[in-house]
Amino acid sequence: MRILAIESSCDETSASVVEKLHADYVHVLSNTTATSLSLHAATGGIIPENAAREQIKYIIPTIVNALCISEQLSDLSYEEQFKLSQKILKEKIDQIAVTIGPGLIGSLLVGIETAKSISFALNKPLIPVNHLLGHIYANFIQSPTLNSQFSITFPCIALIVSGAHTDLLYFESHNRYTWLGGTRDDAAGECFDKCARLLGYNYPGGPKIAELAQKGNVEAFQFPRPMIGTHSYEFSFSGLKTSFLNATKQHFPILRTTDTRIGWQQVALERQLSEGQKQTLYDLCAGLEYAIVDVLVKKTLKAAQEYKASTVLLAGGVAANQLLRDRLQKVADKMDLNTAIVFPEKKYCTDNAAMIGAWAAFHPNAVAWQKVTANPELYFE
Ligand code: KG4
Ligand code: ZN
Repeated sequence: MRILAIESSCDETSASVVEKLHADYVHVLSNTTATSLSLHAATGGIIPENAAREQIKYIIPTIVNALCISEQLSDLSYEEQFKLSQKILKEKIDQIAVTIGPGLIGSLLVGIETAKSISFALNKPLIPVNHLLGHIYANFIQSPTLNSQFSITFPCIALIVSGAHTDLLYFESHNRYTWLGGTRDDAAGECFDKCARLLGYNYPGGPKIAELAQKGNVEAFQFPRPMIGTHSYEFSFSGLKTSFLNATKQHFPILRTTDTRIGWQQVALERQLSEGQKQTLYDLCAGLEYAIVDVLVKKTLKAAQEYKASTVLLAGGVAANQLLRDRLQKVADKMDLNTAIVFPEKKYCTDNAAMIGAWAAFHPNAVAWQKVTANPELYFE
């Protein structure tokens, strides 16, 4: 079964063709993503209307490209690709999958209305997908570097850590899952992003903090680990963000990372510091990254232990964080948990359409196109 998947919930426009030939995983035949990040850097953040306007421009070329790559036809001119893509859609694609939420309403509508038009015009079944569940199913994409024995064993604990969400779920099977808890305030990725912004870096801030942290000493700053000892599976990261802000201001009282004379332009704090001061900055980043990771690892493995999980699935943009991956494995080994730690390839951690196709491949529950609508507040049922 071949699925054309479309994802446009935030600033990215992504299309992918996935194929499910095996009971346990899907293959990705193409995954094309257009981003408007540089546009948003100039305005100091994503302005929803700007994001949607860009997505209207990118959506058709992105789909055309994904369809042609799935047939190894990417060397052709755009005009040739455009003609061929209609034939590929008609003859090779069995179903259409699209993200219906959560996300920005204008952005979601661009993907949804396009998917509905294709479904109507070509009479293809349409599968609406929750973006968050899509993140988890990035784990069911078979990487070409893995051997063919790849399979995920239930029950699973899934940790979603993205720019807007931090959630723990228990999966008994593909069709039975329970939400265990989430963040009360900021998400883990949001904490990375806001702290990076304070240091003068644009979105996404997580990779920048992780890069600076590599040169730092994790022992130099002991930031709080909010809610680490509580029995619940709730998280809270806003206090940690404030501690980071206070420590940074204390060490760099002349902190100035926004140059208002030239419109919105971030000025990296790092560039204003002497060599000696830079070490303190790296130590601050190392302390922050370690604190975030510590909380995520502790809560996730507590859930894995309580629910006797065979597998822990890591998902969302922050799942690309190497320290998080390494610590989960190390601490699980130390606790003697008989749990496999699984994470997607880094390119499938951040927003992409392949993960939406992966969820749809395991849940091919089509809905009449007239009934498919955007739900910006969609969460878990
Ligand atoms: O899943 P995603 O692409 O978008 C949302 O659905 O939110 O996640 C984006 C988030 C951002 O907060 C970004 O800073 C974070 O993922 N991120 C990372 C890393 N790569 C991306 N955080 C920490 N370390 C990374 N290597
Ligand atoms: Zn996402």
